[in-house]
Amino acid sequence: MPRSTRPRKTEVTGHKPAKTPVKLTVNGADHIIYVEPRRTLLDVLRKDLGLTGTKKGCDEGTCGACTVLLDGKPIYACMALAVECEEKSIETIENLGRDGQLHPVQRAFIEQDAFQCGFCTSGQIMSVKALLDVNPKPSIEEVKAALAGNLCRCGAYLKICKAALCAAKLLHQEG
Ligand code: FES
Ligand code: FES
Repeated sequence: MPRSTRPRKTEVTGHKPAKTPVKLTVNGADHIIYVEPRRTLLDVLRKDLGLTGTKKGCDEGTCGACTVLLDGKPIYACMALAVECEEKSIETIENLGRDGQLHPVQRAFIEQDAFQCGFCTSGQIMSVKALLDVNPKPSIEEVKAALAGNLCRCGAYLKICKAALCAAKLLHQEG
């Protein structure tokens, strides 16, 4: 029988990696937090900063539920280390509403009934916001391309695309 080529298991020594101070700018506020270098931005947002609007779906970069904006661009927070995000601007769903009013993208999702369970919704909304920030009048193809990294297990894609176009109109009207 051939010998197994599987690498030997790494010895578990009980040693914990040292925490390092990181300055994260989240929704315009600076936070100095001590994190192990291996921790993801997603876990730090949810567990250390209590920003649970960003959801953990697959935790391996396939579903988009954890989408946040990093310097205005959508990223999977489960695939970014918190230490990599120092000196960058991080925006989460909690930053969208103002003075008790929902953001137009959020309102468009409600108007168009663009969800069922809602688990993917904050990620979808952040991807739509990132698109409309740079392209206020997208075509349906551009909407689909922008949402290609956001899966919806409930299959609400049609209404999600309609919501994105509706949000573009609302933003235009409200100037
Ligand atoms: S939780 Fe990050 S992509 Fe699924
Ligand atoms: S609304 Fe349920 S996963 Fe999208």
